[in-house]
This record gives sequence, structure tokens and C-alpha cells, in this order.
Amino acid sequence: MKNIKVMISEEELQARITELAGQIDKDYEGKEVVVISILNGAVFFTTDLLKKMKTPVELEFIQVSSYKGTESTGEIKIKKDLDRSIQGKHVLITEDIIDTGYTLKSLTEYLSDKNPASLKIAVLIDKKARRKVNINVDYVAFNIEDKFVIGYGLDYDDKYRNLPYIATLNRLSE
Ligand code: IMP
Ligand code: MG
Repeated sequence: MKNIKVMISEEELQARITELAGQIDKDYEGKEVVVISILNGAVFFTTDLLKKMKTPVELEFIQVSSYKGTESTGEIKIKKDLDRSIQGKHVLITEDIIDTGYTLKSLTEYLSDKNPASLKIAVLIDKKARRKVNINVDYVAFNIEDKFVIGYGLDYDDKYRNLPYIATLNRLSE
């Protein structure tokens, strides 16, 4: 049996995302931004964030997967690449969660090579205690301690993504 416990409610999520959208709008004033959402998990966060932003945006998706057993190298494989050039564009990556940081570190290196005018990162959740690489995250909606969370895009075994809140998942019994 599994025990699902709400950690961040739907109301808290929406309120904080509204706040973050306002901050991002302020920072990008007078600019246009290409938002690159990382499939699949970031979709929920991205659409809610973008609906609350006033900055003109273009929405792109990228999908990556870690090479098996490469937690030490952090190498990623691009499963779905961008459809358009980002050269000279202001790019904002949106991601559901940053854990070790390997995914975003590799991805920012990959995207930097495409010469965007600027490159920033917005994450819904930061698990700072787990970080293995040095990476600057520009926007963080929530900082949480080292716990496995599900919902609002985050999965366990590809399930639970559609919960409207963030929850912890604990095994009650084996
Ligand atoms: P990183 O490369 O270690 O930062 O890993 C980030 C990825 O690990 C995220 O995109 C998630 O897919 C996954 N992940 C890390 N922590 C969690 C969690 O608590 N719940 C669900 N997925 C997680
Ligand atoms: Mg993910």
C-alpha cells in the first residue's frame, strides 16, 4: 500500500506560480522569450506559469533522458530536439524539479552552444540538499527537503503526474 500526503496544495501552487510569473514579467520587460519546457514533467508547471505571464512567449519542447547508470557523468541524450533556432533569442527553460542538477547542467550546456541572447532557468521545485553540480537556477517556486514527491507533473513509475497538488509518496508496508 502507498500513502499519499499533500505537501503543497493546489492553492499554494497557483498562488506562488502567479507571484513567479509577475517576477519573470518584470525581468523580461520589453523583451520576448522562448520558453523551453522539458517533457514530460514540466508541462503542468509551464502551462500554468505561461497563462499567468504577460511577456510575449514562444513555446518549445525538448525531451531528454539520462544515459543509464551515468549519475556520475550526468550525460543526457536528446530524445526530442527543438523545432526552431534559438540563436539570438532570450530563452527560459522550465523544469519540474532540480535534484542532482545533472539534467539541467547538461541541457544548459547543450542550449548555450546554440547561441541564445540569454539563457535562464525556472523550476517548480528545488531539492538543494541533493545537488551534485554547481548550477545557477534563476527562478525557484518552492524549495523542499530531500523527499520523493509526486503530482503536478512529477511521476512515480510514470504515474501520478495529473494530481493537481504536490505530494509525498511513502510505502506503508512492503
Ligand atoms: P537531476 O538531473 O538529478 O536534477 O534530476 C532531475 C529529474 O529527476 C527530474 O526531471 C525528475 O524527472 C527526476 N526527479 C528527481 N526528484 C524527483 C522527485 O522527487 N519526484 C519525481 N521525480 C524526481
Ligand atoms: Mg523530469
